Amino acid sequence: MAPLIKTAVDKNNLTDSERKHIPFITISENTVTVSCGDGITHPMEDDHWIIFIELFKNGESVEKITLKKTDEPKAVFTVSNLTDTDTLSAHAFCNLHGIWESL
Ligand SMILES: [Fe+2]
Repeated sequence: MAPLIKTAVDKNNLTDSERKHIPFITISENTVTVSCGDGITHPMEDDHWIIFIELFKNGESVEKITLKKTDEPKAVFTVSNLTDTDTLSAHAFCNLHGIWESL
């Protein structure tokens, strides 16, 4: 059975847990930054941290970046040949709260 991937119950009314776990994507030319989260920063502590952030382009994995507990809860990806028709999404894996998908 595939692991359950979590996302927002109501995109227009995020809970605090959703705001700090859902990976938030910003794009600047070929640089894609994915942060956890939006407005509330997810902890990076010994017993609670973001293990990895994975970026997808048109549903295909681009790269999975593993984070250290001393890192900020974000990952920066370089994506070449990005066009307006490409769709980006991301997953973030919290050791306590599971895998979360971008909106
Ligand atoms: Fe968490």
